[in-house]
Amino acid sequence: MTLDDFSQYARRRVDDYLSQNLSQYEPATNLQDAMAYSLFNGGKRVRPMLTYAAASLFGEPNDLTDASAAAIESIHAYSLIHDDLPAMDDDDLRRGKPTCHIKYDEATAILAGDALQTFAFELLSSPTIQNTKVQLQLIQELAHASGRHGMVTGQMIDLVNVGKNINISELEQMHQHKTGALIRASIRMGAISTGVKNETDLTALDTYAAAIGLAFQVQDDIIDITSDTATLGKTQFSDEDANKPTYPKLLGLEGAQTLAQTLYEQAITAISPFGDAARPLVELANYIIGRNH
Ligand code: IPE
Ligand code: IPE
Ligand code: MG
Ligand code: MG
Ligand code: MG
Repeated sequence: MTLDDFSQYARRRVDDYLSQNLSQYEPATNLQDAMAYSLFNGGKRVRPMLTYAAASLFGEPNDLTDASAAAIESIHAYSLIHDDLPAMDDDDLRRGKPTCHIKYDEATAILAGDALQTFAFELLSSPTIQNTKVQLQLIQELAHASGRHGMVTGQMIDLVNVGKNINISELEQMHQHKTGALIRASIRMGAISTGVKNETDLTALDTYAAAIGLAFQVQDDIIDITSDTATLGKTQFSDEDANKPTYPKLLGLEGAQTLAQTLYEQAITAISPFGDAARPLVELANYIIGRNH
């Protein structure tokens, strides 16, 4: 399967699962519209692709894989809605469209984010799956990666460091939390969903995940400078305008690009024992450090 085929396959599976489950409730408010707007307005679906790619190493993707991919994307959508709010990055443009609070209003955006967060755990804990032991493990993985041990702490570190000079290890800690943790969970949850047993396999995947999770945010910082607003679908130079600590700021553009390449190589080396079966993960790593949006 080419990366294009694989990404279409993952996108279709996760989109179907999300829309089937979201459409089961039709209240007469904007809440559900705002949730759907933020879930289906053109995200790249990188995290679900990683989930299906990691799952495929150990078996056929199943309903635990679908629920994991959908739950991660739901947490991701919530994190972006809140990230764009005036109290945080104050951005008007996301995926080439008005951000959720511009399209609706701030209160609706806050509530849509809240509801997307709990929707993720509704999906993972669904009684229709009937595998409570693994479901509980997946819930634990996602909760850990999203909250105070992961993304939320990363966002907090990001915001308290506006305008400050932090060192490289503090910046790495920030990036590993705000973006790396959820990417790592995407990969771990995929593997868990199809029954990874061997500790060595999980350790190899974890090394890949840590490297690629960090590389993802390094590249995000790079394209804030190198890619234009139309390509990005978000406003160019928004990190600089908001005085955010970033890798290009600390290492220079070339230094940041070299780091992304080094992390890519670390990631590829880690999964080499899987051989050809890891082809989609190799191609995704390549995509992550080469992307311009
Ligand atoms: C953007 O993530 C926010 C970061 C964590 C850097 P993506 O680049 O995956 O966003 P979408 O979902 O494709 O819009
Ligand atoms: C956000 O990082 C990461 C999240 C946890 C949402 P950024 O603030 O750099 O993401 P963009 O550039 O707005 O997508
Ligand atoms: Mg931010
Ligand atoms: Mg932002
Ligand atoms: Mg950014």
